[in-house]
Parts: sequence; structure tokens; C-alpha cells
Amino acid sequence: MGAADTPSVSNGEDREKRRSCVLGVGGSPRKGGNSDLLLAQLLNGVKAHATRCHAIQLRDYQYTGCIGCEKCRRTGICTGLRDGMSLLYPHIIHARGMILVSPTHHYNITSWMKSFIDRLYCFYHFQAPRPGNWSSRLAGQGRKAVIGAVCEQNSPKDMGFTLDAMRYPLEALGYEIVAELPVYGIFDRAKIKQHPEIMTRARKIGHDLARSLTIAPPTAFSGPSMAGG
Ligand SMILES: Cc1cc2nc3c(=O)[nH]c(=O)nc-3n(C[C@H](O)[C@H](O)[C@H](O)COP(=O)(O)O)c2cc1C
Repeated sequence: MGAADTPSVSNGEDREKRRSCVLGVGGSPRKGGNSDLLLAQLLNGVKAHATRCHAIQLRDYQYTGCIGCEKCRRTGICTGLRDGMSLLYPHIIHARGMILVSPTHHYNITSWMKSFIDRLYCFYHFQAPRPGNWSSRLAGQGRKAVIGAVCEQNSPKDMGFTLDAMRYPLEALGYEIVAELPVYGIFDRAKIKQHPEIMTRARKIGHDLARSLTIAPPTAFSGPSMAGG
């Protein structure tokens, strides 16, 4: 997937269709691995509901983490860096559904996923003086998300912060997390295929996400804003 897939919005109807679409984001460096297959199956559920979806693998993009230049305070989007994230922002804005899947690396999301999430910082609005009140420009639009994680070991302790590291920022950005799918005990590439119960569950979660998005989004901004420190 590349620049050619960047969405362009031509009219109101088209814009509404795109808003109902789901963006699937894979955070594993391992092509054809467990996270890839889990994401594909979640998106199969979305497609089964006849909802549009678009999949990206972060390893296919060249981008860095946020450098904290704060240029986005004036522009509302990241202008301090021109890199692969510039291709991804239109997808993020237009898709009302989001699926994030990451393998556990050292009790956490991968560095690809962490950098991706950090680059969503441009969607916040902070009131001066800081720290003060803040809000997200993605909030109040009926955005919904699913998060999934795969790890080798068998306990939640060994998955560590992987789910938290996706849930906290997505909620802060204004997404409602409608399902979480932690998968334990899988190490080898694509071994997840041998667990039909997980694949069935993933498909159902994707379908449920798509169905939840058919509820009309709020027309006026009503998103949460929070008081800081
Ligand atoms: C750098 C690295 C760190 C890892 N850290 C953990 C860990 O903290 N806990 C765990 O259970 N598995 C850990 N694993 C195992 C992966 O989570 C596991 O193999 C997973 O199935 C990989 O998913 P993928 O095929 O989507 O990349 C680690 C693997 C790598 C390469």
C-alpha cells in the first residue's frame, strides 16, 4: 500500500461512506506473522458486514516518532515532519473505525506502533497556559476502535502493557474501545492459524465493530475534553 491509496473526498456522499470505513493498522515487523493474520481476520469480519475497510502495515512506511516540535499546535496536523505519516493521516481522519494490532515486544507494543500512536499527538488541542484543559479533534464523532495483541507467553503479566498502551491513547483521542482481543501462547510465525477459535472470535469482533459504526455519528461536536494537571 502506498501513496496511491491515499483517499480523496469528492462529495458529501463519498465523504459519508469513507467515514463509515474501518482502518486496520498492523504493528508487527514480521510479515505474514500472527498479528498480520489476526488483523486480516478482524477485517474479514468488517467486510462480512459490507463495511469498507483499509489495511496498512506500519513496517511498510518510513516514519519516526513525534519530535515534540509543537508545530501542530498552529497547523492542527503534523507539519514538523514530512514522512510516511503524511500518507496515513487522511486515512485516520476519514475512517470512523480503527483496529490496532500489535505483538508484544518486551511487555509492550512494538516501536512501530508506539511511534504511530505518538504521531497522533497533532489531533489534540491544548488550552494555554499548560498544563491546562485539553481535548481531541477526533472526539465526538462516534469513532470506535478494537485493539488486539499477540504474545508468546501464557499470562496477562507477560503481555504487560501491550493493550494498555493502545487503549489509553485511543480513548484520550476520542475512540470508544468496543472490544479487546488478547492472544496468548503463540510464538511461531502464523501459528495463530492453528487456533480456529481465535480466528472465529476475531471475525465476530470485526463484524460487531462494523455494525456498531452504522449508528449515525453525532452531528455536533460533543467530545470529551479533560482538565489537565
Ligand atoms: C523483540 C521481541 C520481544 C518480545 N517480547 C515478548 C514479551 O515481552 N512477552 C511475550 O509473551 N512475548 C514476547 N515476544 C514474542 C512475540 O510476542 C510473539 O512471538 C508473537 O507471536 C509475535 O507476533 P508476530 O508474528 O505478529 O510478530 C517478543 C518477540 C520479540 C521479537
